[in-house]
Amino acid sequence: MNNYNLDDGLINWGPTPEIAEYHQGMFRGFLAQSPEQIKKACCDEEGRLVHILSAEHFDLTFLERICEVTNAARRINKLPDAPLKRLLRNKSVLNYFAQPSSRTFLSFSNAESLLGMRREELRDLSTSSAAKGESDRDSLRTHSSYHDALVFRNKCNYFDMFALWTMQTSNRSIPVISGGAGSKEHPTQAILDYYTIRESLDRQIDGKSFAFVGDCLRGRTVRSLAKVLSLHQDIEIYFVAPDKYQIDQETEAYLTQQGVRVTRTTTGLEGIPEMITGAVYMTRIQDEHDKDGEQKRYDPRFIFTEPMLDQLQDPAVLMHPLPKREEIDPRIDYRDDRKIMIWRQMRNGMWARTALFAHIFGVDDKILETYRTCEKVTAPKPL
Ligand code: CP
Repeated sequence: MNNYNLDDGLINWGPTPEIAEYHQGMFRGFLAQSPEQIKKACCDEEGRLVHILSAEHFDLTFLERICEVTNAARRINKLPDAPLKRLLRNKSVLNYFAQPSSRTFLSFSNAESLLGMRREELRDLSTSSAAKGESDRDSLRTHSSYHDALVFRNKCNYFDMFALWTMQTSNRSIPVISGGAGSKEHPTQAILDYYTIRESLDRQIDGKSFAFVGDCLRGRTVRSLAKVLSLHQDIEIYFVAPDKYQIDQETEAYLTQQGVRVTRTTTGLEGIPEMITGAVYMTRIQDEHDKDGEQKRYDPRFIFTEPMLDQLQDPAVLMHPLPKREEIDPRIDYRDDRKIMIWRQMRNGMWARTALFAHIFGVDDKILETYRTCEKVTAPKPL
């Protein structure tokens, strides 16, 4: 996945081939760093992860902390003096979404509002100077001049590294947070998914089995969450998808090296749910990446049917990053069952992203302290 084709037309490198080639050369030099150097570049001087770009940069200490702050933020938000609202009043953020989004955009936006941040959005690039030929590098430098953080979504797989490189080579580096980079990664979705799994499984994730179903090849949420789960011991992952949508070899090799037992299943979902003790994670076909003539309909053998819900081993849950289409039996929409975690999973995104901003700007301690010292905390509804 790291052999990027910089001439794929997804990034405006500059007005002339010569200028574009110059910047590409600089970027290639940046990419030549080791994964450890790139991870270090994502941290501040104190080692705090501030550029949130890849699930490979997370460890269990980081994730545990975010989950702890997520729970605390959910609880103290109900306090009458709205302590969250005061925490980041002096910070501003740009939500720069060059690809469609409902949940990621809205949950980031709500998280920012909960923390009192000033927020702006740029979603229609035809209204920006990108339409006048401004390079993406200059656009990012402009955004970082006005804001204290940038959340982006972009169809380019390497926009995460591009944004990091731009920050590292400018005189005003602000935290950059990926809300989805092409089909490669969706690291903040992995955080909310991890939080949902951790709460659903009562924090017992070691030794559990998981199934990712649908489009494992182009599902960026799949890749990011699988990497996060691989931080745990004795994890088994089934990738359940037709051959053409199977997980890429690079991700499989990464997981295997992490000690995950990986099984590819290409014949359908039948027989899988009863083996799952963690979560079945459904995904839609990511046909925005299709080229002409590819399959548009979801293969019915991979649909999660209503009886499968009862086949899941306790305490396993059913998840989906959404949006969903035909991959889940519509009868499940009308079942009241604690195993259906899809909509809670989505709402958890707002709280997990609140915790993430608190972490990035170093006010997570204040949230935990307020939670610990408060006597009038309203207990959250259980997941
Ligand atoms: N889960 C997710 O990324 O949803 P959106 O595309 O609606 O943001």
